[in-house]
Amino acid sequence: QKVAVLVSGGGTNLQAILDAQSSGVITDGRVVLVVSSSPKAYALERAGRAGIETAVVARKDYPDSISYGRRIIQVLNAHQIDLVVLAGFLSILSKEVTDAYKDRIINIHPALIPAFCGEGYYGLRVHEAALDYGVKVTGATVHFVNEVADGGKIIAQKAVEVRGGDTPEILQRRVMEEAEWELLPKAVQMLCQKRELEQGKKGSL
Ligand code: GRF
Repeated sequence: QKVAVLVSGGGTNLQAILDAQSSGVITDGRVVLVVSSSPKAYALERAGRAGIETAVVARKDYPDSISYGRRIIQVLNAHQIDLVVLAGFLSILSKEVTDAYKDRIINIHPALIPAFCGEGYYGLRVHEAALDYGVKVTGATVHFVNEVADGGKIIAQKAVEVRGGDTPEILQRRVMEEAEWELLPKAVQMLCQKRELEQGKKGSL
């Protein structure tokens, strides 16, 4: 299965997927394209180092989310992408994109949905909100992407303990290490394997 990873920042989740390919956790999919919403994203360097094709599609270069979404669809279609992974991708995708790739776009959110999710909850803000509320457990969620922010069907979740003395930065790191970097590659493999099996069945009919 051909996988595209959409990024905006550091790309540690992208790295976890690439490492999972090398270590054999992901066997039924290959990252063939990394799309960044920012030309400065460090994730682009990670992709370059791994020899993966990259594209920058910056939201500010498009007048509205419709035309931005159409460009994203073009790029994905041109590479015949099977599965799209949002890994720290900060632009909201239009309904046209989520419909065109229905049940084929997944996202990682650094909290246990339905807590601390939806518009405005991204990056460190999610962990700030969790600490402000005083929850003792948070975590990460992998879910399908539809037109509602963080609203698609949940695929996998993992809980992470909140500790006294946590800052948003410390908690963010623990959620990544203990949940995100494990959950996302596993979900990629699971969905790629499912599609391989489904396509295999069709092929043998
Ligand atoms: C992660 O915390 C992810 O859950 C959130 O954005 C962050 C991206 O980090 N959606 P990275 O770019 O993968 O390092």
